[in-house]
Amino acid sequence: MLTLGILASGRGSNFQSIIDSIASGFLKANIAVLITDNPNAYAIERARKHNIDSLVLKPRDFTNKDTYYAHIARELKERGVELVVLAGFMRVIGKALIDQYKNKIMNIHPALLPSFPGLHGQKQAVDYGVRISGCTVHFVDEGMDTGPVIIQAAVPAYHDDTEETLSERILKQEHKIFPYAIRLYEEGRIYVEGRKVFIKGDRQDSFLINPSCPFF
Ligand code: GAR
Repeated sequence: MLTLGILASGRGSNFQSIIDSIASGFLKANIAVLITDNPNAYAIERARKHNIDSLVLKPRDFTNKDTYYAHIARELKERGVELVVLAGFMRVIGKALIDQYKNKIMNIHPALLPSFPGLHGQKQAVDYGVRISGCTVHFVDEGMDTGPVIIQAAVPAYHDDTEETLSERILKQEHKIFPYAIRLYEEGRIYVEGRKVFIKGDRQDSFLINPSCPFF
C-alpha cells in the first residue's frame, strides 16, 4: 500500500479524484495527510469529510523558503509519506523538499508542457489560439513545471473557448490521468532516465494521449 501526502491550495477536485480512486479500489494507496498553504482551501473540507488529517502551513509563518519546505518534508517523512502529490498546489517547490523526495513528487498542470507553464495555463492557451491543449502529470524539479513528463492527455481547443470552458474540458482529463499516473507509480512501472520517464509496458500507455480512446 502506497502512502501519499497531498499538497493543495484550493478547490481540491484533483484531491477528490484521488480519494475516489482509492475508494473504488483503482488505487491501493492511503492518504496520510493534506497540507495546504491556504486556510480557506475547500480541500480542507474534503479532507475532513474523509477523515484525512490536514495541516495549514503558511510560508509567511516561516523565516524563508528553505525552512518552510524543510518543515513540510519533516511532516511528510514523519507520516511515512512515500509519494508527494501536488493537487493544485500553487507554488514552486523548494529544494529542501525536492532533495528529500527526488522523483517522488508528482504535479498536475493544466497544459501540454512545455507549453504554457506557470499560472493560468488554460488562459495562456486560449489567448495564444492553440487548436489542441490538455494536461500533464510530471515529476517535480526545482523549475517551474519543468520536470520529467509522465503522462499527458490532449483535448481540442476551440476558437470560441473561454478560460472556463477550456478549463472544464481539461479538468475532466486531469481527474483521469492523475490517478492513473499514481497507479503506474504504485505498480512500480515508472522509471526515470535523465529527463525522460519510461513506463514498463509502455505500448498500451501511449494511447493516453488520445482521451477519446476506450480506456477513458
Ligand atoms: C487544476 O486545474 C490543476 O491542474 C492546476 O490547478 C487546478 C487545481 O484544481 N494546477 C496548476 O495550475 C499548477 N501550476 P483543483 O484544486 O480542483 O484540483
